[in-house]
Amino acid sequence: MTPFQTIAERAALAASRVMVRKLSKVSSLEIQTKAPNDFVSEVDIACEREIFRHIQKAYPDHALLSEESGEAGNENSEYRWVIDPLDGTTNFLHELPHFATSIALMHRDDLIVGVVYDPNRNELFSAAKGKGATLNQRKIRVAQRQTLDAALLGTGIPYQHRKEVGKYMKVLSRLIEGTAGVRRAGAASLDLAYVAAGRLDGFWEFDLNVWDIAAGTLIVQEAGGMVGDLSGGFDHIETGNTLAANPALFKQMSDRIASCGIETVSF
Ligand code: IPD
Ligand code: CA
Ligand code: CA
Repeated sequence: MTPFQTIAERAALAASRVMVRKLSKVSSLEIQTKAPNDFVSEVDIACEREIFRHIQKAYPDHALLSEESGEAGNENSEYRWVIDPLDGTTNFLHELPHFATSIALMHRDDLIVGVVYDPNRNELFSAAKGKGATLNQRKIRVAQRQTLDAALLGTGIPYQHRKEVGKYMKVLSRLIEGTAGVRRAGAASLDLAYVAAGRLDGFWEFDLNVWDIAAGTLIVQEAGGMVGDLSGGFDHIETGNTLAANPALFKQMSDRIASCGIETVSF
């Protein structure tokens, strides 16, 4: 394990202790609405503070990009930590036990560490560039299914940009055909981690943010999978339109999405 990875894991575990402590007190939490259907609770903020504390203690001159604080730290650093302190806030606020902490480290434009921790199942997904991906220290690989027949897919259903729902529904209907079905679990970082672990054969979602996908992207890649945008290109980190699967299914899913004629999704 690399020293960067050790710090990322330590920070994720510290944040998760905050989540677990607060889960039984959800009804008394202070919650703000950032945008329609977009909430931030005192837990998101407390988790972020805890993660910053661990990272800045070890690497005081690195840059940070986190969902609740935006850019922080030394903006001139070549190292940038990309953090979603609590991915799956809506699940958390409903006491639906499926959420995670997601922490990635980028060196210039390269993802070099990715950690996603699920405190409900005590599952730590972790990867370092060139060193493979693990779940609780055991190597993981993407599923080896070569066709979409009977594939199980994950997705995120748009809930903020209602005008784009029609485009999403076209893609959904195309990807349901002949597959084993589609799951919408509510935490994109875990959706990607599940692709890496072979629990899902593929995943797609429009308009994610870099903190939702940075760690999961490296974990999928290190598990032998591909992550890109919905038209088969590789600018998902910029656009947020994200597709992940093993190489064979990545191609088949992007072909099906292209056949819907909606490559120009804009939010
Ligand atoms: C959300 C979750 C969800 C996805 C949303 C994200 P948050 O993150 O990952 O699965 O559909 O697009 O914004 O807001 O809970 O950190
Ligand atoms: Ca998120
Ligand atoms: Ca979040």
